[in-house]
Amino acid sequence: MARRKKIYEGKAKILYEGPEPGTLVQYFKDDATAFNAQKKDVIEGKGVLNNRLSEFFMTGLNQIGVPTHFLKRLNMREQLVRSCEIIPLEIIVRNYAAGSLTQRLGIAEGTQLPRPIVEYCYKDDALGDPLVTEEHIAAFGWASQQDMDDVLSLALRVNDFMSGVMLAVGIRLVDFKIEIGRVYEGDFQRLVVADEISPDSCRLWDIETGQKLDKDVFRRDLGNLTDAYSEVARRLGVMPKNSGHAKPTLIN
Ligand code: TMP
Ligand code: ASP
Repeated sequence: MARRKKIYEGKAKILYEGPEPGTLVQYFKDDATAFNAQKKDVIEGKGVLNNRLSEFFMTGLNQIGVPTHFLKRLNMREQLVRSCEIIPLEIIVRNYAAGSLTQRLGIAEGTQLPRPIVEYCYKDDALGDPLVTEEHIAAFGWASQQDMDDVLSLALRVNDFMSGVMLAVGIRLVDFKIEIGRVYEGDFQRLVVADEISPDSCRLWDIETGQKLDKDVFRRDLGNLTDAYSEVARRLGVMPKNSGHAKPTLIN
């Protein structure tokens, strides 16, 4: 196969030039990192699962009118996406206390929050993605006030959709992170949900047992990560075909 032009390589994905202008191919690697890549491993099959799961969530969002960059899945590890200009923010929505919120505010893990709390981190690995306020975002011109109004509304719509989808299969959406990008259509700009939505970027707990089914399994050495992600995929009915149970078949 002809070599494609690599546009960007991140910790868990690679972006290649797409077949048509305005498109990119997003490749899901098996690499797992945590704590700003201080902890690293290769988890066989993670990329295949995240490709499928992100396809599932993004397709659902597109269907309910929440625009995303997702166009179609190409194969086991790749999807075709719209090229967009990523707003340099990690947009986090929290429903229950976990992770950095518990550390920062001393709230016990699992406490239900009075309402969904939206936080913004500036996307900069060298700085460890620091928490920022809308004041920083406006003052440094990372996004306009109109953008931020749209970002907030998109984040809350994604939260409602994801919470409902997960609740239906007995999983609590504790929190998640999304990234949002700008696509230009003529003189107009539109915001779309970009990057990925997967157990790498969400906290997912079994409602009955509290079992963690997300990247905290890797961050905190709680067991087998692909087993956890496979369980999410199985419950949602998005396991790759012919895959038996735990491990996806690695073809393509
Ligand atoms: P936090 O509690 O560590 O701030 O994480 C909040 C949510 O964001 C959680 O669902 C995990 C996700 N997340 C990422 O997707 N990427 C990251 O780099 C970090 C730190 C968190
Ligand atoms: N994705 C981030 C990293 O590697 C952090 C995390 O998800 O915990 O470093």
